[in-house]
Amino acid sequence: MIQKDEQGNPLSGADGEAAAAYTTAQRQFSCYVGDPVATIDAAIARRPDFVMAHALKAYLMLLGAEPAGFAPARECYAAARRAAADDRERGHLDAIGHFLDGNLAQAGRTLEDIAIQHPNDLLALQAGHLTDFLNGDSRMLRDRIARALPSWRPDMPGYHAVLGMHAFGLEETALYARAEAAGRRALEIEPRDGWAKHAVAHVIEMQCRPADGIRFMNENLADWAEDSFLSVHNWWHLALYHLEIGDIDTALAFYDHPDRIKGGRSPVIFDMLDASAMLWRLTLRGVDVGDRWQPLAEAWAPYARSGLFAFNDAHAVMAFAGAGRADLVEAVLAAQEDAMRGAGDNARITADVGRPVALALAAFADGDHRAALDLLRPVRHIANRFGGSHAQRDLIDLTMIEAATRAGDRATAAALVAERADLRPASPLTRMLRDRLEALPAAA
Ligand SMILES: [Fe+2]
Repeated sequence: MIQKDEQGNPLSGADGEAAAAYTTAQRQFSCYVGDPVATIDAAIARRPDFVMAHALKAYLMLLGAEPAGFAPARECYAAARRAAADDRERGHLDAIGHFLDGNLAQAGRTLEDIAIQHPNDLLALQAGHLTDFLNGDSRMLRDRIARALPSWRPDMPGYHAVLGMHAFGLEETALYARAEAAGRRALEIEPRDGWAKHAVAHVIEMQCRPADGIRFMNENLADWAEDSFLSVHNWWHLALYHLEIGDIDTALAFYDHPDRIKGGRSPVIFDMLDASAMLWRLTLRGVDVGDRWQPLAEAWAPYARSGLFAFNDAHAVMAFAGAGRADLVEAVLAAQEDAMRGAGDNARITADVGRPVALALAAFADGDHRAALDLLRPVRHIANRFGGSHAQRDLIDLTMIEAATRAGDRATAAALVAERADLRPASPLTRMLRDRLEALPAAA
């Protein structure tokens, strides 16, 4: 008897026990909890020809943007290619192949084709959504999910994940009220859905409601903070609210806590991105972060020469520059030179965005604030191309304001602060930036 996943899609090569493990792994992945890799490994061990088990593991290896994930993903891909598969499953393998070749945009389109034919293929939606995140494609973060929604009913397994993804896409396209409603509905169905929690956290961040954010995140700490792949990232979001209201001590305490942002000592790239971004934002605020950059630079050091993801490169440069490791900054810049000559989407993304951002961050850390400002100015409006969220890329705007201020370019700084104030009129941080500018001599 052909086995099926929870949404009714056939699973070639599975038996009942392996399919049950697959279901568990997919549920874990859809909430970002537990250890879906260990779960799916058990399914693969039981049924080595289980195509979608290999596909799910390959996605888990690739979608975290970990250079070390490519080798095991390649093994999964090769094993699945040797097994019998149907059209939908072959579509997944094509998407994984494009990802392995560095063609993320094509991977996203292939997953789009699968979901058009099979809108209840939750894995195609989720892998596609995360590919959209890596591609910084706001509109597809929303529309990939929106077009599948009519095929879903609230009582279907995994519906919470569809709502949570839709919420994030709505948020990234500034449809904040609808985003918050969808995210909160997803959390009613599944309180452990870390992506839905995160989508609402983003709405609150973009609307600059830090008191609401602190309350919302503290409502159910155990649901989102324990045994979750998104734990560090969601602690980072909570720390941002504290930073917004000027509560530096709490932001630093979250940073240092071994179960929160982990002091930059997590070896997981998704966590290291947040650690870099938090220390950089603190540094922009004029906070002396002491020797906190050092362990983070050590964590990033193995990836200095990877040149695979421009977004990672930027955050590695923050850590290396912050730690005074000019040698490692140079290593990233050299790897980017190679990446720009290579194949795959990252060559273009690095040339367009990753390279100027890395150079700007290095220049800022060296005290060349004018150069940092001039490098960031042409890329800030296309920075979505190197991936991440609006909240993550806000760091570019904040760096520009600080660069203009420190370069003594009062007019440009005032212009940048004014545009920020227009979007966040009640922001304590923006008020602080404006007060500081007004205190500067007019001729400066
Ligand atoms: Fe986020």
